[in-house]
Amino acid sequence: MKILLVGSGGREHAIALKLLAAPTPVKLFAAPGSDAIGELGTCLPFEADDLAGITGWAAENRPDLTIIGPEAALVAGLADSLRALGLAVFGHDAKTSRLEGSKSFAKDFMHRYHIPCAASVSVSELNNGEAIISTWTHGYPIVLKADGLAAGKGVVLATTQEEALATLQRFLDGQFGDASRVVLLEAPLLGMELSLHVLVDVDATHARYVMLPPCQDHKRIFEGDKGPNTGGMGAFGPIPFLKAEDITLLRDALVVPTVRGLQKEGLKARGVLFLGVMWTTNGPQLLEYNCRFGDPETQVLLQLLNEDLPQLLLEVAEGRLDRERVKLNPGCAISVVLAAEGYPDAPKKGVPIEVGTPSLTVIHAGTLRVDGRWVTNGGRVINLCTHAGNLASARERVEEGMESIHWPGMQYRKDIGLRALRHAEAGRTVRDAW
Ligand code: AMP
Ligand code: GLY
Repeated sequence: MKILLVGSGGREHAIALKLLAAPTPVKLFAAPGSDAIGELGTCLPFEADDLAGITGWAAENRPDLTIIGPEAALVAGLADSLRALGLAVFGHDAKTSRLEGSKSFAKDFMHRYHIPCAASVSVSELNNGEAIISTWTHGYPIVLKADGLAAGKGVVLATTQEEALATLQRFLDGQFGDASRVVLLEAPLLGMELSLHVLVDVDATHARYVMLPPCQDHKRIFEGDKGPNTGGMGAFGPIPFLKAEDITLLRDALVVPTVRGLQKEGLKARGVLFLGVMWTTNGPQLLEYNCRFGDPETQVLLQLLNEDLPQLLLEVAEGRLDRERVKLNPGCAISVVLAAEGYPDAPKKGVPIEVGTPSLTVIHAGTLRVDGRWVTNGGRVINLCTHAGNLASARERVEEGMESIHWPGMQYRKDIGLRALRHAEAGRTVRDAW
């Protein structure tokens, strides 16, 4: 199968490895890929958001399947251009990707289909926003969200009125260009956050989906969930204390109305939806939709998935997903992010990485090969991934594997999965205080 993979990060390196490990023989092309992905296939000189370049190449080379990783390419309409050529694409078209590309669009959608979510109001004028903030009754922190794509930096949890006002002003002044000219002010939700990925295949004639196991990311840079937000410092899954009935509740409260809503609104879907969920004392509430796989969640999910990935994604891309569940490996998977010095503000690039012979899977997220050596080339540099019988042993294995990789200034969290492990070991459920 000739596959074009769009993207260059850890998520895409993990997808590339899983594609090549499948029973289906794969010839891999990547746009733009990375030096690590280049060891598995051919990298093309097109950035992920270079619609013209990628579409031109695809018209000539006709891949059997294109998999689009990053949201910017989806929101910009890359899937639409490729489908117009009659090609099979795993990735939503621009209209459906607005569920991630516009938070107010997503919120209106949630309300129309009675999907539980935080109260919010969308604002585009400073005076109006100031009035709302000064009479805010939903409690603190006030959650301010830039409406459009802001590379994971468009959400601020303001703990004071002053901070909320200053953030609102910065956003409306164009901190993220047009992406922050509309701002969502949202009530805070407290509880346990989880990432729910669902493969979806929806058009006018059918509405099918398959849920992947809920997993958990760790957004803050420091242990104990302290410090600034990042793209994610590590993930694990499945969540050991989530029971079958909890998954059923996630399905009924969030997934089923989403899929019905997509069909009702004529929003075709052929790809993955990643639901950011907060499990509160009132049950699961939807924080946001993403129209793509999470990073580093993908590094976890692909270790758990016991399927021929090219065939599974092709089924979705061709609109013939026809199964209620996917086959999974037993046990638990974990992915710990090794980040550069200075991440998330100003990651230091070009630092040589010492890599021994790790017993674990090394996923490259932001590296470059220079004179035969790997050097840092991004904020999140490497993901160390493993799979074991349970969360405790997965954590131990990844801790041992840490010894084989090092560079000056490397940062990582030693507590990925620890809070969930303690919660499970204490016999608590998702309904107990997190
Ligand atoms: P988002 O980009 O919407 O996922 O927001 C980024 C992060 O902000 C989420 O992963 C949550 O940790 C946090 N967040 C978003 N919305 C809320 C909310 N209403 N209450 C509390 N935390 C939130
Ligand atoms: N790990 C969170 C995300 O991919 O948005």
